[in-house]
Amino acid sequence: MKDEHLEALLGHFKQLSASGTLVKLTLSKPRVKSNSLRNVFVKPVYIKGVRQLSFVYSEDNKHRTQNFSEEQAIDVLRQLLGGFRAANLLGIQADYEWLSSKNGTSRLTFRPVDSGREANLSHDREKKRFLDPRKPYWFSLGITSRDGVVLPSMQHKFKQVDKYIGLLDPLLPEEHKGILRVVDMGSGKGYLTFAFFEHLKARYGNNISVTGVEQRSELVELTNQIVLDHHLDGLSFVKGSIESFKLQHADVLIALHACDTATDDAIAAGIHIGASVIVCAPCCHKQIRREMLESAEKLPLFRYGILLERQAEILTDTLRALIMEKYGYKTRIAEFIDAEHTPKNIMLAGIKKKMRNGGERIDDQIAGLKAYYGITTHYLETALAKLKLL
Ligand SMILES: C[S@@+](CC[C@H](N)C(=O)[O-])C[C@H]1O[C@@H](n2cnc3c(N)ncnc32)[C@H](O)[C@@H]1O
Repeated sequence: MKDEHLEALLGHFKQLSASGTLVKLTLSKPRVKSNSLRNVFVKPVYIKGVRQLSFVYSEDNKHRTQNFSEEQAIDVLRQLLGGFRAANLLGIQADYEWLSSKNGTSRLTFRPVDSGREANLSHDREKKRFLDPRKPYWFSLGITSRDGVVLPSMQHKFKQVDKYIGLLDPLLPEEHKGILRVVDMGSGKGYLTFAFFEHLKARYGNNISVTGVEQRSELVELTNQIVLDHHLDGLSFVKGSIESFKLQHADVLIALHACDTATDDAIAAGIHIGASVIVCAPCCHKQIRREMLESAEKLPLFRYGILLERQAEILTDTLRALIMEKYGYKTRIAEFIDAEHTPKNIMLAGIKKKMRNGGERIDDQIAGLKAYYGITTHYLETALAKLKLL
C-alpha cells in the first residue's frame, strides 16, 4: 500500500528544492539493524552552475557521494526510504519529520522554524543597518545559516557589503522618476549586487533594474538561479566582459574589487553612458606600478617594495579621480571599512555635475603628476580612448 505521508514528504522535498529553500534531508534508523548503510544525507549543490542534489551515503563509517538531478533524486529517495524508518527534512522556513513504525504505519509532522530566534537576531540587526540577513537568498548565497545568522566565515564579507551600501546610500537620488537602472561590473558571486538590490527595493520599491556583469559563466548561472528561486524581479546577471559590455543605460554604476584595470573599464563605461553616480572600490593597482617601476632608479621613493605599492595605489586612484573630474564628476575618496577587514578598502565615488568646468587646470594636474612619477598613460585614459572619449 502507498505510504501517503512518505509521498507528502517527497512533495515537500520537491517544493523546497525547487524554491531554493532546501537545507538538508537526513535518512536515519535503518529498518534492518545490521544494514551497513546507516544514514543518507541530501543537500543542494551547484555544479558548474547547475543545481543538483548531493547524496552522501554513510556506510560502515565511510562516506560515498553521488549527485542527482531533482527528478532523479525523487526516484532514488523513494527507493531509499523503503530501507529507513525516519527522515528529517529541513527547509529555511519549516522542518518536517517522517517516522515509520515497524509495522509500516507512518506519520509526518511539521514544525515552523523557531521564530524565537528573532530575539537573537535583533542584536545582529542592530549592527547591520542596511541589510537583513534573514532574507532567504542570503542563505542560498552561502552567507547565512538557514535561520538568517551570518556564518562566522562570512561575517567579513557581509559587513564589507553592508558598509559599502552605507556609503552608497547618501549618493543616491532622493526620488527617481521611472526605473532606476544600476549596473554592477564584475559582480562575481553577486554579494554586492544582491545587497544593493535589497537596499534599492526597500528605498524605491519595484521601479528598479539591477544588472550584474560577470565574465565567469558558472557564477552568472549560479546567481541567476538564486534570482529565479527567490522571485527577485528586477535583478539579473549577464555574462560579459566589462570592457566590451554594450551598456545601454545606467543611472548608477558600481564595481567592488573588479581586478586591476577592470576598474578603469568600469569607470570608462560609466562616463561613456553618462551615469549619474559611479562608485568603485578598486582592487590591485598593477598597471601604474609597472610604469612606476621603470622610473624607480630616479626616485628614491620607489626603492622599497611596500612603499612603491602604496604609492602606486595612491597615484592610480588620484589619477582616476582627476580624470573623472575632467569628465564632469565631483569625486570623493573614502575608506568604506576598516583595513583589518580588507586592505582594499578605498571607495572612489563620482557624482555627475550639471556643468563641466576646470578642464585645463585638471589636465595640467594630471600631466604634472604623470611627469613626476614617470608615467606615460593611465589605463583609464586608454579605456576612454577606446570609447572614443579622449
Ligand atoms: C574580486 S571579485 C569581486 C566580486 C564582487 N564584486 C564582490 O566584491 O563580491 C572580481 C570579479 O570580477 C570579475 N572580473 C574581473 N575582470 C572582469 C572583466 N574584465 N569583465 C567581467 N568580469 C570581470 C571576476 O571574474 C570576478 O568574479
